[in-house]
Formats: sequence, C-alpha cells, structure tokens
Amino acid sequence: MDLLLSLYAVGAFVSAATLPKLKMRVELSRAKQRSLLGHVRLARRVAALIPHYEYDEIHFFRSDDAPEEIAERRRDGFMRLAAIYRERYAATLQMTAEVEPAISDLQFTSAYRVPFQYSRFVRRHLAAGAFAASSEGVTLTDLDGNCYYDLTGSYGVNVFGNDFYKECIERGSARVRDLGPVLGAYHPVVAYNVGRLREISGLPEVSFHMSGTEAVMQAVRLARYHTGRSHVVRFCGAYHGWWGDVQPGIGNPVPARETYTLKDCDPRALRVLATRRDIACVLVNPLQALHPNAGAPGDSSLVHSGRRAAFDREAYTAWLRDLRAVCTARGIALIFDEVFMGFRLALGGAQQYFSVHADMVTYGKTLGGGLPVGVVCGRRDLMKRFRDDRPADICFARGTFNAHPYVMGAMHEFLRRLETPEVQALYTELDNVWDRRASDLNERLAAEHLPLHFANLSTVWTTCYTQASRYNWMLQYYLRAEGLALSWVGTGRLIFSLNYTEADFVAVADRILAAARAMQRDGWWWQDGALSDKAIGRRVLREMIAHRFGRASGR
Ligand SMILES: Cc1ncc(COP(=O)(O)O)c(C=O)c1O
Repeated sequence: MDLLLSLYAVGAFVSAATLPKLKMRVELSRAKQRSLLGHVRLARRVAALIPHYEYDEIHFFRSDDAPEEIAERRRDGFMRLAAIYRERYAATLQMTAEVEPAISDLQFTSAYRVPFQYSRFVRRHLAAGAFAASSEGVTLTDLDGNCYYDLTGSYGVNVFGNDFYKECIERGSARVRDLGPVLGAYHPVVAYNVGRLREISGLPEVSFHMSGTEAVMQAVRLARYHTGRSHVVRFCGAYHGWWGDVQPGIGNPVPARETYTLKDCDPRALRVLATRRDIACVLVNPLQALHPNAGAPGDSSLVHSGRRAAFDREAYTAWLRDLRAVCTARGIALIFDEVFMGFRLALGGAQQYFSVHADMVTYGKTLGGGLPVGVVCGRRDLMKRFRDDRPADICFARGTFNAHPYVMGAMHEFLRRLETPEVQALYTELDNVWDRRASDLNERLAAEHLPLHFANLSTVWTTCYTQASRYNWMLQYYLRAEGLALSWVGTGRLIFSLNYTEADFVAVADRILAAARAMQRDGWWWQDGALSDKAIGRRVLREMIAHRFGRASGR
C-alpha cells in the first residue's frame, strides 16, 4: 500500500512537471502551418528524397496528356520562340554562356527558372540572358540593343527609377570624394543620415551594416542578448535573408535549432508567444501581407496553378496590432524587417502604413541610394552592445565596410531627396493608383478569357493563374519576348518603380496581354476539364515515387 502511494506521489510529481511542457509542445505544433513549408525539418528531409528526373522531348510537350495536335501547337510555338531568342538576344546569350560555367550564382538561377522536369530542355532553347548594358527611365537595354520595361525592380532596390539611383551615387560620391574610401572614421554625412533615420523610424538608435541579411542578424543577436532568451520566431514562408537562423528549411544544410516557424496571421501563433519563455524576438516581413504563409512565388515551383495571393490591409493591420500587444506583454522584441518593403509603401515604411510600431526595424536595399547597405534602427535599451555593470559581457558586431563613405554619400542623397515635394508627391494616392492599374489589367485579361490575374501589394505584383495547368511557367518566356524584363523568379514577382507613368503602365499591360494571347494561341493552357491542380499534384508525386524507386518509364 505504501509502495502504491509512493508511486502515485511520484507519478503526480512527474505529471505536474511534464504536463505543462507537453501542453506547450502541443501548442507549438498547432501553431505551425500545415504544410511542408510550416514544418521546416520535415521539409528538409523530404527535399533530400526527391529524385532528379526530366521529361524527354515528347513528354515535355505532353506532360498533361494533351492531345497530339495540342502538343504540336506547343512545339511550333516553342521553337518559334527559340528562334526569336537565338536571333534577337545573340550577343547577350553568348556572353552569358561564356561566363556561366564560372559563376555559381548564375548556374543556380538559370537551373531554377522553371520546374526541374522541364529545366534542361528550356535552357537549351530559351536561355535567359544575364547581362544588361544600360538603363533609362523605366527601361533596361541588353547587349543586343533590345529595350525592355524593367519589372525586376532590382530585387526591390528600385523604388524611384534607375536614374534616381544613378544620381544618388554620382552626387553622393562627389560629396564624399575628399575623404575617399577611408574606413573607421565617419564622413560628416553620417550625422544627417542618422538624424533622418531616427525621424523616419521613430527609433532613437541606428547601426550600419553591409546587407539586409547582416542587419537582420544584428537585430536578432541584440534581442537575444538583452532578453537572455534563445529563440527567434519567424512566420511561415517569410524571407529575411540567407543567414542560417532565419532560413531554417530547405536551402540551409544544417538545422536552425533556435528558430520557431509559426503560422502567420493565426491566433495559435499568438498563444505560443504568450506562453513560451524562450522567445527573444519576432520577425515580420510586411511583404508576407500579400501571401501569408507562402514562400517567395518563384516559377520554379509553379507545378500547377495553386499559387495564391491577395492583400487585405485591414486584416493584416489587425494581425500586426495583436502581435504588438503580445510582444509588449511578454517583453519580446518585435522586429519589422523592412529591407524589402521599407520606403515602398509609405515614406515611413510599413510602420507608418499599418500604424504599428516596432521595437527594432531593419532596412536595406533602396536606402543605400543604389549601393549595398543594411541598417538597424531600434530602441536604445535594445541597441546597446555592452552592460554597464558587466564590462566583459558584450554583444559583438563589426564589419569592415560598415558606414562606407560612398554608401553613406549615396544614402545621404537618397534621404535628402525623400524630403523633396517631387518625391513626396509620388506617395499621394499610391495604393489607389496601383490598385486601379491592377484591376484595369485584370478586367482586360478576364474580358479575353485569359486564365491569369494579378494580385498586388501596391507596386509589388504576383501573377496568379485561374485554371489548372502544368505550363504557366512558360509565360515568362513570352513576356520577355514582348520586351518585359523579369527577375529570375519569373512571373512570381513583378516589381514596378513608382516613376511608372500611366503611359508606361499601359504599354506594359498591352505587352502582358500580347504575351498571354500568344501563350493561349500556342496551346499551353489547353484544358480538358479533367485537369485539376490536385490531379497534377498527385501525378507529379507518382512520378517522383516511380523515379525514386526506379520504376519510371520514359518520363
Ligand atoms: C525582407 C528581407 N530581409 C532581408 C533580406 C536580405 O537582404 P540582402 O539581400 O541585402 O542581404 C531581404 C532580401 O531580399 C529581404 O527581402
């Protein structure tokens, strides 16, 4: 009897100690997005199992079992396009081919422009040039003299048009020339830059870094130092640079053990923040408002038409307010990562646009006035790198090129220009202008029964496809042929600069329509009514399994 009582007592003690832990563990699991993207470790394991295989020439055109006549139309269209590319882009493509074997980044981007099953065949016939000779207004010109409307946005850097940044670099360089590339001592322009950044961010301290990735690293490191907690929370799908802790899934060869990837815009994530004691900070990338819980929409993952995007300003504002409240209550640092969206939505960035204030904000890209930069603005207590009462307990951060005079000069010019009436005018009615442009184009596409539409967060656009297809990624090649420059992610992200006039935009819209018509005409959007995204997904899975276990035939 005594023994039984003791066992009960031990059992009760153990449960009291483990049950809360178990409960928190369950809450953490429930706060994850129910997809591989939400389960980053599993995603890495699954990724390691996916075999490489590719379609032969017959299956390339019929991977959806389209009739022979459609496959012929596709082949004709494809080869016509290939001939145009060969002739029109000859010099650009030749130089690309010459350097590609020596530039690993280029090998990566050219391999991942389309789903891997089609990639080699596409590269053989429709390689995309990696060189440009000049830029002007909203256009780029390649080595063959072809002029394109620039929808690449230079990865988000280009908010005001390329000429704007050329001037920032030129004037900024002139301003700092006497000091030249001296490092360690600041050029006086830094004083102005710091003052403006404090005003813009509403935060009292600033640190300079060399890239957005580094700014994020520093913000997270400081949050860990000051809270004494280990974990960073990021939301499913959000990009914060390529540092390991913020890229815990596919792409990082080691697991990020001190990162929680939670479901965006979900009360269960708030519950985790409200209960766990190991969370130092939460990272928010406001770009996710366009596609919460989805990764960057590259065309290499466009295996069917499942890409979804839609921006709901009210809902996202409410979510940020909830996040703000729980972070305040729990002493968690709320970090807005505005490296991409800063200065694009509003002069005061996402903080101003959503009327929610962060504890730290990271900036980069456009803020460098065309040169590379990363910046952290933060609360004084979070930015401090040492403790008055523990002199050896410091939070280290340096960087040879931090506050480089030429970068500071270009940034100075950028920040000065933000104060001019011409730049301020660009923000008036910004959303109305871009929402109307998107809806006008969407109406034109719908009127012609073309199976695509655009979702936008101001000037950042995503192409969504409205009927199941395996070939949506082909559209990027038709768009290029119409004179539209896209980044390597293809139709997933079109980035407009704010200096696009109405006439420029109409020209782009006309070209998008022309490309979509050609795509339709060439049979890529053939549908027999039975083709669905689910059916495509199941089929691709079957193919992978067959190739994994060596039972594949012909495709
Ligand atoms: C939100 C966000 N954070 C961080 C980064 C990383 O910046 P960088 O490429 O300058 O290192 C990026 C880059 O795209 C970004 O979009």
